[in-house]
Amino acid sequence: MTSPAPLRVVQWTTGNVARKTLRSVLARPDLELVGCYAWSADKVGQDAALLCRLDEPCGIRATDDAEALLALAPDCVIYTPLHPDVEELSRILRSGANVVTSAEFLTGHSLPAGSREALEAAAREGGASLFGSGMNPGFAQLLGAVATGVCQEVRKITMHESVDVSAYASDSNMDGMGWGRPMDDPGHAADVEAASVVFADGVHMLAATLGIELDEVRCHVGFAATTKDLDLPGRPIAAGTMAGLDLRWVGVVNGGEVLDLHQRWVMTRHLEPAMPVEHGYKVEVEGSPNVTLNFGLMPDQPLDTLTVEDMHGIGMTITGLPVLNAVRHVVAARPGIVTYADIPVPTGPAAWTLAGGKS
Ligand SMILES: NC(=O)c1ccc[n+]([C@@H]2O[C@H](COP(=O)([O-])OP(=O)(O)OC[C@H]3O[C@@H](n4cnc5c(N)ncnc54)[C@H](OP(=O)(O)O)[C@@H]3O)[C@@H](O)[C@H]2O)c1
Repeated sequence: MTSPAPLRVVQWTTGNVARKTLRSVLARPDLELVGCYAWSADKVGQDAALLCRLDEPCGIRATDDAEALLALAPDCVIYTPLHPDVEELSRILRSGANVVTSAEFLTGHSLPAGSREALEAAAREGGASLFGSGMNPGFAQLLGAVATGVCQEVRKITMHESVDVSAYASDSNMDGMGWGRPMDDPGHAADVEAASVVFADGVHMLAATLGIELDEVRCHVGFAATTKDLDLPGRPIAAGTMAGLDLRWVGVVNGGEVLDLHQRWVMTRHLEPAMPVEHGYKVEVEGSPNVTLNFGLMPDQPLDTLTVEDMHGIGMTITGLPVLNAVRHVVAARPGIVTYADIPVPTGPAAWTLAGGKS
């Protein structure tokens, strides 16, 4: 039996998540890197793998010429910029390239008015599919949906992400949370809601996967203050200011908050009020029976060798790999915006890593 030809992919931007997706693309026999887009002008012309801080060059140089990349007719673009650009995404989709993304997109409900429709139209015009995931929002909601599969009755699903995020303190996507703002700062909760609005997509995606209609999606925000000064790289936080966040995005059906995406992110354990974290993901289904699903992650290296960068890397792996592992299903999917409701469950590359290959 011969293996199908590798799918030809373009890596779009070269940041934290790209480091993990590109590493896998280069290792996997079913994917071939044909191009790389760099957003930063000073990265243009440099080797894509070196930009992603991998050890060996890959021979593909980054460009900012989007048209030239699309002229390569890639099967799929792995789109991982800091923020999605609807115009840019539409152009990619209209060219016929499928897109998988970690960049603040799952269903498009949280984008500005008209954007979701524009992306759907562009995808249909190009005969291409657009899929977004990540760990949370993203894969965590798939876990939530799967956990209901043993139930006779489902009354409520709560998904907890409970993490000390100090290893990610300097990441740009942390800016909008307002770490270090005074407690009771007017407008802080509204700013957090705006910066985390992609979690509304997570609620919509879970609803679509379960086949339910939502009346409303709401957000609840709670804060805790650090009792000590925190000297975090790139983000010092003064004692008495915000360093703990409880963020809930909930889906409402018949007046009840039945889908609950609960994120607890802390920069320290010295918080007032206390916000204990459990370092992982937990799904709780209230139903018949009640179901608890604990999803724990451990590094595959001795713990005494673990650096902050290694810890950060695990977060980026579990963000990028749900996106990358979906590529072949998204290429095969119907045109338009697709979610976990529309594709087979993406699995990891066991087929060749069990046989001794690296990924
Ligand atoms: N759902 C999840 O579980 C999850 C978790 C973590 C992150 N994410 C999301 O994944 C995406 C990538 O995260 P990341 O940590 O990899 O981001 P990042 O490293 O901070 O930025 C990614 C790349 O975006 C480009 N970029 C920088 N500023 C930009 C701007 N203002 N507008 C557009 N592009 C810009 C740069 O590309 P070049 O390097 O090419 O110059 C940068 O390297 C973000 O949208 C983030 O929110 C999702």
